[in-house]
Amino acid sequence: MENVPQSVIVGLGLGGATAFFFFIANLYVILHFLQKLIFPKRQFKWLNSMGKRWHYVHYFGNIIAIVLALIHGILMLPYASFWHWVLIVLLLWMGFAGFTLRFTKAPAKVKKVLRNLHAKWYMFVIILVVLIVAHIASLPNFPFPLE
Ligand code: HEM
Ligand code: HEM
Repeated sequence: MENVPQSVIVGLGLGGATAFFFFIANLYVILHFLQKLIFPKRQFKWLNSMGKRWHYVHYFGNIIAIVLALIHGILMLPYASFWHWVLIVLLLWMGFAGFTLRFTKAPAKVKKVLRNLHAKWYMFVIILVVLIVAHIASLPNFPFPLE
């Protein structure tokens, strides 16, 4: 194998770790979205009770994922695409909005706006699409082999 810089080896490892935390933190979001898409009229008891218990996994899993994504992003910056910048802004926004919703006493009006720009299935879908587009767009720029 050619000389792969240490920063890239660590950066790729952190990319995997980010994906892991992001997936776990948003597992309920993904399942809830699929339920609304496929069975819009049905209620699932286990999903409802999972939703009630998933909060802390969602908050702290996503905070960890965002921090890891930023370190991964800094290490991979020389190969990044324009869409990675959009992704970084979106992740910071979600962290800020989620934190304000949960841990502050912001006025109800403000929280309503934040909820519409955070706690909605389309925000997750937008992030997922930008995430995929950004990583595909940067591939031609990435000179090292990916496993
Ligand atoms: C939730 C956020 C993110 C996740 C889950 C994620 C995930 C990953 C994963 C799993 C890989 C490794 C692929 C492999 O080993 O085959 C990777 C590669 C890469 N990531 Fe990320 N990443 C995220 C955010 C970012 C950000 C913010 C940047 C901005 C610089 C970035 C830039 C890159 C680059 C340049 C590569 C090299 C491969 C390619 O160009 O697609 N990533 N990412
Ligand atoms: C990129 C990361 C994140 C994404 C994609 C995301 C996405 C979502 C989505 C889609 C929902 C609605 C859940 C549903 O009913 O299906 C939600 C709810 C929520 N999220 Fe996040 N989130 C992220 C990060 C965070 C963080 C870091 C925090 C807190 C520190 C947070 C706090 C909350 C809260 C408090 C709710 C419930 C809001 C309410 O209705 O009162 N989120 N999130």
